Amino acid sequence: MRQALAEREASQLLRRSVTLEQYSGRVLRVAGNSYLNFSGNDYLGLATDPEVLNAYAEGAAAYGGGSSGSPLVTGQHQVHQQLSDTLCDWLGFEQVLLFSSGFAANQTMLQTLAQKGDTLLLDKLSHASLIDGALHSDAQLKRFAHNSLSALLAALNDASQPLVVTEGVFSMDGDSPDLNAMLSLCRQYQAPLLLDDAHGLGVSGPEGKGTAAAQGIVSGDLFCTMANFGKALGLGGAFVGGSKTVIDYLTQFGRHYIYSTALSPALCAAVIKSILLCRGQSWRRDKLHSNIARFRALAADLPLLASQSAIQGLVLGDSVRALNMSAQLKQAGIWLSAIRPPTVPKGSARLRITLSAQHTEQDIQLLVQQLRQLV
Ligand SMILES: Cc1ncc(COP(=O)(O)O)c(C=O)c1O
Repeated sequence: MRQALAEREASQLLRRSVTLEQYSGRVLRVAGNSYLNFSGNDYLGLATDPEVLNAYAEGAAAYGGGSSGSPLVTGQHQVHQQLSDTLCDWLGFEQVLLFSSGFAANQTMLQTLAQKGDTLLLDKLSHASLIDGALHSDAQLKRFAHNSLSALLAALNDASQPLVVTEGVFSMDGDSPDLNAMLSLCRQYQAPLLLDDAHGLGVSGPEGKGTAAAQGIVSGDLFCTMANFGKALGLGGAFVGGSKTVIDYLTQFGRHYIYSTALSPALCAAVIKSILLCRGQSWRRDKLHSNIARFRALAADLPLLASQSAIQGLVLGDSVRALNMSAQLKQAGIWLSAIRPPTVPKGSARLRITLSAQHTEQDIQLLVQQLRQLV
């Protein structure tokens, strides 16, 4: 272990957690200094919304802080059912299942739904939770080149009983697949399509219904969808949504669901409020999208990845360069973490810039000005 730690440190890949002394969404405070935050996933500014915080406190008073059990024993309260109903009403699923994290939801989704004899086809840039879920399943795992339809077609041709897995918005590159084209390939091969929309939910589509809805796809066209409450909804926890049969099956056989304490009821009450605000307050999405457009216009001369989402990658290649730039930005009052391998492929260390509805025009100007100087 010591050797592995020393090797990580020597190659500039050691990570350390950062303790926030204060957080308001747009600004965070670390070790006595305040920084403009360009590293979070609170895209709509809901994590600190007073109505959401009130719902949290009222939820705790009404239902308790913790659920007190796993969902099939004593952990399922009325508010869990209300949250499930709210999700079905919003997103059009027949049924959903709640999880304590997106990581757990993805693990269960792939480990449980993929069977012996199946082949899980995952995009090359899939999130670690999807890769681990696939590795823990009895199915074979194959990966296809990122967002490449021709690579997917070749993989479908080769695979026995394929299931295809992709993300609505890729967490490090911020780009999206052409889901309609993927669906039509999947139909040709009778392959179910499974979607992780952690970074699309709340942000894209009518009422923030997510990436599939933004591309005109109804939820029933997908085999199932996972998304979490810890990104645009500003809280924590996750769900898998799909047909009654898929969700009934996960309820019986999904180990991360069955053998884990159910979500806090207070949290469920807060998520319900956050969904209500997310659906109704389209100004949050409008502001976010105008901030994205402003950033991309101002930073047009910088080597950004092609992304129209809140996640904007500035690939620098070398981990030391990414760390140095992150440190220099801190001196200018900007919090922008360097993302290094193994989170991203070797040689593609980067600054992962995330925009939020809370950023002002001046914040974005300052960021671009600083980035331009450093690049
Ligand atoms: C694409 C994607 N899937 C799944 C997860 C895991 O979700 P959670 O943070 O709720 O465990 C994340 C977040 O880290 C993610 O970016």
